Amino acid sequence: MVAAISVRELDKTYASGFTALKSIQLEIRHGEIFALLGPNGAGKTTLISIICGLVKPSGGQVLVDSHDIITQYRQARAAIGLVPQEITLDSFATVWQAVSYSRGLFGQPANPAYLEKVLRNLSLWDKRDKKIVTLSGGMKRRVLIAKALAHEPRILFLDEPTAGVDVALRKDMWELVRRLRNDGVTIILTTHYIEEAEEMADRIGVIRHGELLLVEEKQTLMHRLGKKQLRLQLAEPLAQLPPALASHGLQLSEDGLTLTHTYDKREAPDVPGLLQAVHEAGLRYQDIHTQQSSLEDIFVHLIQETA
Ligand SMILES: Nc1ncnc2c1ncn2[C@@H]1O[C@H](COP(=O)(O)OP(=O)(O)O)[C@@H](O)[C@H]1O
Ligand SMILES: [Mg+2]
Repeated sequence: MVAAISVRELDKTYASGFTALKSIQLEIRHGEIFALLGPNGAGKTTLISIICGLVKPSGGQVLVDSHDIITQYRQARAAIGLVPQEITLDSFATVWQAVSYSRGLFGQPANPAYLEKVLRNLSLWDKRDKKIVTLSGGMKRRVLIAKALAHEPRILFLDEPTAGVDVALRKDMWELVRRLRNDGVTIILTTHYIEEAEEMADRIGVIRHGELLLVEEKQTLMHRLGKKQLRLQLAEPLAQLPPALASHGLQLSEDGLTLTHTYDKREAPDVPGLLQAVHEAGLRYQDIHTQQSSLEDIFVHLIQETA
């Protein structure tokens, strides 16, 4: 099957001489939600801007639905909707005018029923005759999404869609993205809210200093790099960890109140053995719980490791 997007050996050096992307290789599958994670300045917006034809690559090739973004720009661009990181809107147009205009830019015939559906899905229908300048920041962001969807693209890019957005709008956006995916739209989002990727993505790419560090199924990534911890809350503080417990792989917190056993998710810990050893050391515990590393923990670890 042809990839929705195929990025081959892509390089970008800006006129300033700064190299923002180094030899990026990436295939986005049809119908997936792909989250591109990376710290500020990693190159996320540069990569998206090149795929969408806003920034010129220095080397390499990008195909959108097998159309080359340079030699077949129109076909490639028509397949894509872009919700940019920065709000760029014509303030004095109404919401309806803005989305109709965006549709027209791509040479699509008018389709009021489709635009109505888009606006309704974004809770913008009531605001369709309002001038954009009168809308709140959150509403403007919804308009950006409506504009990006106006020409019925099969691929949607969301560049930091929820940066500075309130919780309600963030949840609405997640809902919308799921609905679009169910309609078969391929979604690529960048974010530095890892929680967002954990919630939504099928696959994750991590980019840092212009290099793609890894691309993996979210589940595999969390399984491969995730750790689990078993914690015992002691009834009384312990000055030193008894050697018998250390040999069971337990660690003592600085305040002497918590014993922790960290283990790989793939191996099941010997919980009865651990508890037996704790018991034999004459210790009493008040509470016991296990905890699993989040995608955030994994990401922070990964970024530090390659610093
Ligand atoms: N027009 C430009 N000229 C020179 N450097 C740029 C330009 N645009 C972005 N950069 C630099 O390229 C790097 C990547 O930027 P960007 O792609 O916006 O990162 P991200 O979206 O991951 O935060 C940053 O160091 C940024 O300063
Ligand atoms: Mg960016």
